[in-house]
Amino acid sequence: MANVAEPAETAIDRSEWTITSTCRRCRAAWNLAPSVIGTAADGKAFFRRQPETEEELMESWRALVACPTGSIKAPHGLPIPNDVFPQVLAESLWRLGYNDNSSAGAHPFFIRAKSGLNFMVDGPRFVPKLVKFIEEEGGLHHVLLTHRDDVGSAAKYAEHFGARLWIHENDRAAAPEATDILTGYEISEPVPGCTVIPIPGHTIGSVAFLIDEKLFPGDSLGWELAQSQLWTNPIFCWDDWPMQARALRRLQAFRFDYVCSGHNYSIGFPADRMKAELDKALDFFDTLTWSPPTHLPTGEAIPAARIQERDRRVAKVRADFFATLARESA
Ligand SMILES: [Fe+2]
Repeated sequence: MANVAEPAETAIDRSEWTITSTCRRCRAAWNLAPSVIGTAADGKAFFRRQPETEEELMESWRALVACPTGSIKAPHGLPIPNDVFPQVLAESLWRLGYNDNSSAGAHPFFIRAKSGLNFMVDGPRFVPKLVKFIEEEGGLHHVLLTHRDDVGSAAKYAEHFGARLWIHENDRAAAPEATDILTGYEISEPVPGCTVIPIPGHTIGSVAFLIDEKLFPGDSLGWELAQSQLWTNPIFCWDDWPMQARALRRLQAFRFDYVCSGHNYSIGFPADRMKAELDKALDFFDTLTWSPPTHLPTGEAIPAARIQERDRRVAKVRADFFATLARESA
């Protein structure tokens, strides 16, 4: 067999922390290590400076482990700590790390609910480290998918632990192994202690899950570090931004003190501060403009037939969703 050229990253300086050109711009590293990692003009992550403190070093390791493309390199010979992930975010709430490339690097979470049930929200890579952690926490009862983009290896965890796998009917094609399909747009509690709030828009099957006052809105809402505000960028809205902006107003009826975001920073505030942040963000969202995407994030044009099919499905969802809202307010 002919020799295969060594990957370019083997030629990089391994005396310090670096990020190779294979970065896919998922922003996971920036979210996890904002003190040392920045985002370049082309959207790729880079080390603004080397980590100095213990916390900065741990942030860098988290970025390395979470990176879905393995683009982050530690200094040669530096031993990896044993406790990089899962990362405790709040009591009984963890960020799992090991972000899956098939989910474009979305952050997955685990919560040990007061109900006694254990939930995974969105799917990491399937790795022994997380399997062992979940075993030690008493297993896994439900895997919740916020929408079609952030599925990752969720089905493998569900199968391994005999857990139920949930997704909304509008995005179900992304998780054919799902055992439980959420239907319609009513707010519901299909599992004790887990409120399901359909928020179609980012995708037509997007839902937010609320468990023990922790909110999991997928890619529909998160904290934007650069602006220091709750935020979701309409550039990354695939199906219907006006519907997403309206749907997010449903969250105003709920109390929560943590937002666990798929592709943005996750943040905790006392519930009153969180409510104020949400109110401010929602008013801002109403001022933003949006056009239905004609190209994939890769730059590739979406075929006209697919755009027509998307627009047809979105129109149906919009009609049904707003009819649900009208019934709620009647
Ligand atoms: Fe998404």
